[in-house]
Amino acid sequence: MDQGHVANDLVDILFTEAQIQARLQEMADQIAADYAGQDLLMVGVLRGAVMVMADLARSLPRHVEMDWMAVSSYGSGTKSSGVVRILKDLDTDISNRHVLVVDEIIDTGLTLSWLISNLASRKPASVQIATLLRKPEAAQMDVPVKYVGWDIPNEFVVGYGLDYQERYRNLRDIGTLAPHVYS
Ligand code: IMP
Ligand code: MG
Repeated sequence: MDQGHVANDLVDILFTEAQIQARLQEMADQIAADYAGQDLLMVGVLRGAVMVMADLARSLPRHVEMDWMAVSSYGSGTKSSGVVRILKDLDTDISNRHVLVVDEIIDTGLTLSWLISNLASRKPASVQIATLLRKPEAAQMDVPVKYVGWDIPNEFVVGYGLDYQERYRNLRDIGTLAPHVYS
């Protein structure tokens, strides 16, 4: 399999590393203001949210705890089904905690909507969502999202944690793939 230069497969750069970092800092400023005086537990959704979590958390000047969940949405490739299974649960008891779920992209919203009701059943003090990207045209569930980096058109993007067949997560920028990658 071709192990060549990963960035060469991007055709359109939607967001550069610098734009992403600047937007995350704005989101972090808002989060710091909103959660002033409260404890904060950030919950990252593996695997895509690793980069967002790392940079968003480091943009916060305050103490924060981090934990992770891995969920699998049945269905394959680029489609989500809404039937979700927990592959890795939290190590933290979230009862009476202020929870901020961190994700990289909301597409149909099916995965996150399931996750939010699952977390809500554990009686946290609050649950909110921060996502770097959202595709409003793809929404099948109305998921209340408090912090959004950008709304984007309904097209498949990779980089900065977002994958196509487990590749391209390690790109620093976010963009669309050249057609030859899919064929
Ligand atoms: P949802 O349940 O349809 O909102 O699916 C969310 C998940 O689908 C994300 O966490 C991603 O793993 C994946 N996903 C959705 N759109 C894209 C995309 O454009 N690029 C890469 N992964 C995507
Ligand atoms: Mg994801």
